[in-house]
Amino acid sequence: MSEHPRMMTAIGIASPGGPDVLAPEERPVPAAGEGEVLIRVAAAGVNRPDVLQRRGHYPPPPGAPDIPGLEVSGTVVALGPHVDGVAVGDAVCALVPGGGYAEYVVAHAGSVLPVPEGLSMEEAAALPETFFTVWTNVFDRVGLTAGERFLVHGGTSGIGTTAIQLAKAFGAEVFTTVGSAEKAEAARRLGADHVINYNEADFVSEILAITDKAGVHVILDMVGGDYVERNWKVAAVEGRICQIATLNGVSENVNFSRLMVKRLIHTGSTLRPRDNAFKAAIAARLKEKVWPLIAAGTVRPVMDSTYPLARAAEAHARMESSGHIGKIVLVTGAAA
Ligand SMILES: NC(=O)c1ccc[n+]([C@@H]2O[C@H](COP(=O)([O-])OP(=O)(O)OC[C@H]3O[C@@H](n4cnc5c(N)ncnc54)[C@H](OP(=O)(O)O)[C@@H]3O)[C@@H](O)[C@H]2O)c1
Repeated sequence: MSEHPRMMTAIGIASPGGPDVLAPEERPVPAAGEGEVLIRVAAAGVNRPDVLQRRGHYPPPPGAPDIPGLEVSGTVVALGPHVDGVAVGDAVCALVPGGGYAEYVVAHAGSVLPVPEGLSMEEAAALPETFFTVWTNVFDRVGLTAGERFLVHGGTSGIGTTAIQLAKAFGAEVFTTVGSAEKAEAARRLGADHVINYNEADFVSEILAITDKAGVHVILDMVGGDYVERNWKVAAVEGRICQIATLNGVSENVNFSRLMVKRLIHTGSTLRPRDNAFKAAIAARLKEKVWPLIAAGTVRPVMDSTYPLARAAEAHARMESSGHIGKIVLVTGAAA
């Protein structure tokens, strides 16, 4: 069993607010409990839900640490009781319910995956949150299949870059919306077949024109607001829509007749509060279906920028500028 210190540096949220409320603090190194492993963190991914948590809008689920951070990469340094399939010294990445912005974090063994062949620790830290989220929503929940037309909004977000690549890898025709010409170019490079800059064109009329009014079979939406009805307009008959966020706010008045006439299914989910068994099942599917695609170079995390852990505030400011393309990652300086 490896030696590890009693105290560590972690990023605390002093009080709800702007990026500057994120500051390094001394915290005890957590202990791995039943079915858990302790990871010495090499890198931690930054996700939009961390921004919501920092602002006080997304409290950690019961039992999760108050330190932000939903995904890490690093080295396993200790095992709790009853852990199978993970060993001390393994290079891993993991989905965690919180606590990722730290030098050490505890993860449930079922949410731990090996660092895919050929990826750096920084790249591996950028995988879990978006790959678990896209897999469970797009493939398990609304069942995207080869040959279907798929629309993801926010195509250059962490979620969007993952969704474009996975949908393409599994044989879908991919449509995406983005907010600038630079983002449109990035989405095309990732393999999107049809990219709409929503500041220049209306995605509804564009997609209906491209598809000869047939629409798209599956939509992954993080925007909400007036996109709810616009998604229904652009969905194919029997289309499936999955809501994972409402960045533009909730929709108060929607015309349900559109949903009825087209026999649409509109669903949604949040990953963080789901139980360990649910997350372990997603991890197993990712390991089988997606990790080989990453090792083969067919699918790669899109890296925007890297910041030292202590400068988490700058990483959040970058994310809130919405200038980023792909993933922002914090690094601890720990050896890979
Ligand atoms: N339900 C779940 O389980 C789950 C899990 C993970 C993430 N999420 C959600 O998925 C979304 C994407 O997460 P992420 O980490 O990939 O985020 P991200 O990289 O920060 O991307 C968000 C993107 O959304 C677009 N956008 C559209 N309207 C926006 C608005 N009003 N405010 C800010 N951005 C807007 C922006 O691109 P343009 O400039 O092109 O508009 C922005 O780059 C977030 O809302 C997050 O909370 C949900």
